[in-house]
Amino acid sequence: MSEPSELQGKHVVLGLTGGIACYKSAEFVRLLTKAGATVQVVMTEAAASFITPVTMQALSGRPVVTSQWDAREPNNMAHINLSREADAIVLAPASADFIARLVQGRADELLSLTCLARPRERCPLLVAPAMNREMWSHPATQRNVAQLVADGALILGPGSGDQACGEVGDGRMLEPAELLEDLIAFFQPKVLAGKRLLITAGPTFEPIDPVRGITNHSSGKMGFAIARAAREAGAEVTLVAGPVHLPTPRGVRRHNVMTAQQMFDAVVPQASQHDVFIATAAVADWRPVNSAEHKIKKEGTKSVPSFELTENPDILAAVAGLSAPPYCVGFAAESERLLEHARAKMLRKRIPLIVGNLGPATFGRDDNALVLIDDQADRALPPDGSRADKLTLARALMQDIARRLQSVNP
Ligand code: C5P
Repeated sequence: MSEPSELQGKHVVLGLTGGIACYKSAEFVRLLTKAGATVQVVMTEAAASFITPVTMQALSGRPVVTSQWDAREPNNMAHINLSREADAIVLAPASADFIARLVQGRADELLSLTCLARPRERCPLLVAPAMNREMWSHPATQRNVAQLVADGALILGPGSGDQACGEVGDGRMLEPAELLEDLIAFFQPKVLAGKRLLITAGPTFEPIDPVRGITNHSSGKMGFAIARAAREAGAEVTLVAGPVHLPTPRGVRRHNVMTAQQMFDAVVPQASQHDVFIATAAVADWRPVNSAEHKIKKEGTKSVPSFELTENPDILAAVAGLSAPPYCVGFAAESERLLEHARAKMLRKRIPLIVGNLGPATFGRDDNALVLIDDQADRALPPDGSRADKLTLARALMQDIARRLQSVNP
């Protein structure tokens, strides 16, 4: 999903320290500026051995600062000025040595000095470690990272996999797109902090034989956007997804299923351990009673095959009917008389909230228009009845659900 102006108005101080992952920081600056942020790059001497300040200046559109003795600053206090304008300081890559220096509160070069001198309550510090796996797992580094977290920093990653040294393990810097997603999430209000959300998404696929089946046009985009928005809002998120080709939002636990029965089995037993259940999946209403073991062949058959269908279990109704149900939110994709059909579904399934949308105007698209229906009223999202991208809608829906949880359980 594109993130056109997600960081509009944000000013980021990007600190680079010595590590081969500096090459990824060039791409990260590109993504930050594309997302609307202004970026001031600060580099340590070691970082400048891996990538030149010229490259980072060209990409950020601002001269890079490398020294606390830089006479270009009128008051000669770069270490103060830098963080006073910033919405966040992001260190990417953060070397093992630099993390150790932060923990000690060292201030003998510009970047550590800037981190120490930042106003902690309004200029958060996000740290993306990058180092060899032995360095990362060393008790000294783990001790330092724990202390950094205790001092209020947020650690991004690290990732796992192939390392520049040829070894494989934990310690890789996150990819630029992952860093961007984490930074965007960081700036979202944490209205669902401490809540557990269970979400279904996508279509289901009901096999007729090993190569054919009954399915529908649901792309899963709305449900995946909701999973991402819920995570951004601070929730612990489990996403049960039908067959779709969408990347898992960062920090979301994903469980893939094919059929409605598999979705039911993945959802119902764990539903009561959640605060909210959001059923966005377009579950097939019926499935063939018998799925053929082998492909049904056209050759040699005289008549067109016919199938006996049976009804699939209703996952949402089953969850709503549990003795300790989570707060249940349904989706209704209709092709006409949206409010009437959606409200009828809400009553039939005995759920407090249903979100209506027009099927043909949402399936596969990146934008949508929603209407939130409860037993009192209807509310359009966006409020002016226009359309918005699914992530924007999902964020607004999370705010709405958070308010509802507050009034149910103040
Ligand atoms: O009327 P319908 O059953 O299609 O209502 C749609 C809502 O119910 C959606 O939230 C959908 O995810 C959920 N549903 C379900 N299990 C089914 C059918 C629908 O959870 N078998």
